[in-house]
Amino acid sequence: MSKDIKKGRELTFSILKYNPRDLDSKPAFVEYKVTESPGMTLFIALNIIRDTLDADLSFDFVCRAGICGSCGMVINGKPLLACRTLTAD
Ligand code: FES
Repeated sequence: MSKDIKKGRELTFSILKYNPRDLDSKPAFVEYKVTESPGMTLFIALNIIRDTLDADLSFDFVCRAGICGSCGMVINGKPLLACRTLTAD
């Protein structure tokens, strides 16, 4: 493998999980680590987490183009659209 290939940053996501269908569920933050790739959005990162680390993780997305607003969430204390938010930012 070439030495020129830069390894992405390791990002830590602290995500509030809660299952409203489970009466015993309590909201709690869970941490996940994902290696950043160029142009990665929160939408991509959440899908990687769900596909590789936690199949229980669920979130809403419809258009993935910043139009519908269904992916609105609080990201680092600000209300933003996950499909339009780059992890680099
Ligand atoms: S999925 Fe529609 S605005 Fe993000």
